[in-house]
Amino acid sequence: MSDPLTPTPQTTSPMRITVIGTGYLGATHAVCMALLGHSVLGVDVDPTKIEALANGQVPFFEPGLPQKLREALDSGRLRFTTDLDLAAEFGDVHFICVGTPQSAGSDAANMRYVDEAFTELAQRITRRALLVGKSTVPIGTAERLTERVQRVSPAGTELELAWNPEFLREGFAVADTLAPDRLVFGVDSDWARQQLAAVYQPILATGTPLVVADLATSELVKVAANSFLATKISFINAMAEVCEATGADVGLLATALSHDTRIGGRFLQPGLGFGGGCLPKDIRAFAHRADELGVGQAVAFLREVDSINIRRRRRTVDLVREMADDDLAGKRIAALGAAFKPNSDDVRDAPALDVARMLYLEGATVTVYDPEANGNAHLVYPDLNYADGLIEAVTGADVVVLLTEWQEFRDLDPADLGRLVKHRRVVDGRHALDVDNYRANGWEVRSLGRPNHPVSNAVAQG
Ligand code: UGA
Repeated sequence: MSDPLTPTPQTTSPMRITVIGTGYLGATHAVCMALLGHSVLGVDVDPTKIEALANGQVPFFEPGLPQKLREALDSGRLRFTTDLDLAAEFGDVHFICVGTPQSAGSDAANMRYVDEAFTELAQRITRRALLVGKSTVPIGTAERLTERVQRVSPAGTELELAWNPEFLREGFAVADTLAPDRLVFGVDSDWARQQLAAVYQPILATGTPLVVADLATSELVKVAANSFLATKISFINAMAEVCEATGADVGLLATALSHDTRIGGRFLQPGLGFGGGCLPKDIRAFAHRADELGVGQAVAFLREVDSINIRRRRRTVDLVREMADDDLAGKRIAALGAAFKPNSDDVRDAPALDVARMLYLEGATVTVYDPEANGNAHLVYPDLNYADGLIEAVTGADVVVLLTEWQEFRDLDPADLGRLVKHRRVVDGRHALDVDNYRANGWEVRSLGRPNHPVSNAVAQG
């Protein structure tokens, strides 16, 4: 499958699939399963969401997904409902894709939605079927739920449970689902493995690596992967802290490290660090669960990974303050970006919004502009100003701070931008700007982990 966004191979063994929970992960999964040729029923408790999806509208920003949703609806293989009875009757394989957010007042994952979804569905299933968890969960959940669903279901032990972790990234959801780096099946029986193999047959046929594992390993794969990614980001950001104390340049350091193929350059991008609905809460929940299991020391470093990440946000505020003559009160700050990363409207645990909030709390007048996330950001922090366009955001700014590296911001012309602001001062929180070009146009530039007057990349590479 060279281009995962072009029409995909049809399965030779169509199945009846339900997808419970049509948020980010579930909606994408339901659409992609229908594209693979299966008959799919997407289920959610939220009637507004279901109505939107049934009408071909994706209730969040995800490039490519609206077109694929329409394609799947047009095929007649994808339907949506709020009726769990219908789902129980319809499906042979049920994917549970509900969220596991961080619990209020604790690092633990909130398991309420997962537990409810499995239990409610199991109570309605009367024949042999497979329940497949996709949510990111504490290790041991699948074993615990197996006992529970078999106890409450009229189907008893005919109802089996498997775990099939999902590794999709927001912004690349369709491609990551249809052409994943690998598939992981956590199963208790050969029948369960066969069911999953039939579901994913067109993807497996392209040579996608498959790891068949026990339930606990499959749960662990997911949290271990996210922990590794978070650790890699915090590693380079820890080096940025060292750079700041020594005058070294973390951008050049990352480039030099990335040429070592054992290290590689992906997820080694220094800056404001990680956020979103997954990495931050997953490493906290993992550390919490490891404590419960008596192996807390093994992953104690994850708390430091978290701390390094949070420190980057405060350091960005420091840089903006320094540029604003050491006092943020009354200063106009243009905050470019609110989403936790580009090509997303997701502001959950977004470093960008956190920085904007901290600047506001120090008395700055903060105007936020994000190409897609203004609406969601406004719901979380209504006190910040939101601009409909870039020009409105930056006009008259004392300091511009780039917080999410949207292409629109990378492409800015420093000369044009300079004519709009009050002072040509920019903090590049994402190492996304051409610093030499900005300086050549009279800008003062500060960025995390780089000296104020770095050797230009051209010289360094020469
Ligand atoms: C992450 C994982 O990458 C997916 O594999 C996983 O399936 C998903 O979580 C999940 O658990 O559902 P996602 O949250 O969409 O995906 O975002 P990433 O692309 O991983 O980025 C996470 C954060 O790290 C962003 O805030 C991004 O700006 C930051 N980041 C990423 C860096 O600061 N530096 C980098 O080099 C890379």
